[in-house]
Amino acid sequence: MAIVFKSDPIRGREWARILAERAPDLEFRMWPDYGDPATVRYLVAWIPPRDVGALFPNLEILFSSGAGVDQLDLGSLPAHVPVVRMVEPNLVASMAEYVAMATLALHRNLVDYIGFQRAATWKEIRVVPAPQRRVGIMGLGVLGIASLERLRPFGFPLAGWSRSPKVIEGVTCHAGAAAMDAFLAATDILVCLLPLTSETRGILDASTFAALPRGAGLVNVGRGGHLVDADLIAALDSGQLSGAVIDVVSKEPPPADHPFWSHPRIILTPHVASMTQPATACEVFLANLRRYQQGLPLADVVDRSRGY
Ligand code: NAP
Ligand code: GLV
Repeated sequence: MAIVFKSDPIRGREWARILAERAPDLEFRMWPDYGDPATVRYLVAWIPPRDVGALFPNLEILFSSGAGVDQLDLGSLPAHVPVVRMVEPNLVASMAEYVAMATLALHRNLVDYIGFQRAATWKEIRVVPAPQRRVGIMGLGVLGIASLERLRPFGFPLAGWSRSPKVIEGVTCHAGAAAMDAFLAATDILVCLLPLTSETRGILDASTFAALPRGAGLVNVGRGGHLVDADLIAALDSGQLSGAVIDVVSKEPPPADHPFWSHPRIILTPHVASMTQPATACEVFLANLRRYQQGLPLADVVDRSRGY
């Protein structure tokens, strides 16, 4: 039974080593050396090959090597092949850590202080106590909830927004499009942890920024497609937003003349907020595969009708 790995080859070599030890019944093949395509049952991919159903006619499961699946073009995948996304403890922990870092950076005026340092200016900004800084997370899924839990000890008033109603102790939960403005109006630092779907594309735009209190901060760790870049620049330049920590952009890497590289109120990181670690990813993958082989339901299956 063969598994093909088509993602970061460095991490792929670690997968190969771990699976050789832990699952000798699986024959691990690294893209593009997929061998006899008829023997391929499982594919782990960030971007699957074009026409994957024709290439691997006996494919049983497609595993996304990431938590997000917008890169997969779900409509073009064979309907009978379940798509499983990656939810593993290190990916979740590193996202929560990044969201805490970015939220604290905005809360403690790091954007200003980096500018002051460049200008050799010794100037203080009065600290706002955490209980007076409201943090709101768009997306109350695995990563949004883990991030809220990581933020909890700092004492920020916490809120979240999702499609379906949620109850999370100590978090003011809002649901649905009609509740979005109330959520935004009470959010000083907005974190985007939504999946990219037809409903959420471009959601971080001028109207969303206008609904936030003046001087709010933004953290985008969802996808670049959530953000309307020009609207962010306009909101920062007008003072409607005071700073942004951006981990994802529409085109990665952005072109050399993209304004995010040099904007003084943007901290840009290269899509590193969270990363899968092969050791824990293999554990989760194998546990899920064994469940499937015993006829039990797979975990973390993507609902194609929702797009996440
Ligand atoms: P998830 O568990 O599927 O949760 C998604 C959340 O978004 C759910 O709460 C869902 O609401 C909500 N949502 C979806 N569509 C919505 C809409 N139209 N309006 C309001 N809420 C909506 O996803 P996750 O594992 O937390 O991951 C979230 C995203 O993080 C991924 O899709 C990916 O894009 C991004 N990500 C980024 C990195 C990085 O390094 N930057 C790494 C991993 C993942 P319901 O609860 O009602 O379904
Ligand atoms: C990374 O962005 C992921 O979706 O895991």
